[in-house]
Amino acid sequence: MKRAFVVGYPISHSRSPLIHSFWLREAGIEGSYERLAVEPAAFPDFINTLKQQGFVGGNVTVPHKEEAFRLAFVDDPVARDLHAVNTLWLEGDTLKGANTDVVGFLANLDQEAPGWDGRLGRAVVLGAGGASRAVLYGLLQRGAGEILLANRTFERAQALATHFGPKVKPMAWEEAGAVLPGTDILVNTTSLGMKGQPPLELDLAGLPETALVTDIVYVPLETPLLAKARSLGLRTVDGLGMLLHQAVPGFERWFGVRPVVSQELRALVLADI
Ligand code: ATR
Repeated sequence: MKRAFVVGYPISHSRSPLIHSFWLREAGIEGSYERLAVEPAAFPDFINTLKQQGFVGGNVTVPHKEEAFRLAFVDDPVARDLHAVNTLWLEGDTLKGANTDVVGFLANLDQEAPGWDGRLGRAVVLGAGGASRAVLYGLLQRGAGEILLANRTFERAQALATHFGPKVKPMAWEEAGAVLPGTDILVNTTSLGMKGQPPLELDLAGLPETALVTDIVYVPLETPLLAKARSLGLRTVDGLGMLLHQAVPGFERWFGVRPVVSQELRALVLADI
């Protein structure tokens, strides 16, 4: 029986066990996916004894993603760029690491809004945290002409722009509304709109009617931002699919079957949020 895990600290909020257990049942695989709370001080020991514990690999979440990047052998260019690993697997005695957040972001859009990157000119990205890095990487990979990056703390937007190069342009938070005309895709990567957080206050009226609006937040599934976009007749993609799609490469590596992000899986996870 193959064993995989999700490790974090704390870990109780993780929905990954629900996702992987569903796929294990669906594929009829005898395996397990376990939720493990490991303190930062104990993390290196945990990593170094994975094989002895009988694990084939697992997912890494907050606060261990950067430490996992340091401890694993990483040839994945995304993880090397983001300096963060969320997926680990053993190849013989070598522990390998990758970052699947970019794949998750892009695969969600590809599935829910096919052709979204057809003529990708301007993107507007709100937020400059960890999720924003993955979104910027993905948008650049798909050929975005320019990415305007607005963040409450301007310096963080500036730092990301410096990292990603001249196509990413930092912008004051208050300016986001003014650049919406001519924008092809608007992505929220801030926690605004999340249950318990204030809504994202942004007048979307300037967006072209062909624009796509997507949110990283998926609790609730329809954030105030997405509701507003929908009421204007704009295309929207919610954030749940990113969570589901980022789980695909790990499952495939550990259990040898490429799983599908189905409506049934979406419904199962939705029932839990
Ligand atoms: P993650 O790794 O999930 O992206 P993070 O690094 O904590 O999380 O980033 C959260 C993002 O939400 C940041 O861009 C943050 O803005 P700051 O860089 O100014 O902190 C943004 N954010 C959180 N609360 C916000 C608020 N009330 N108004 C505007 N932006 C907010």
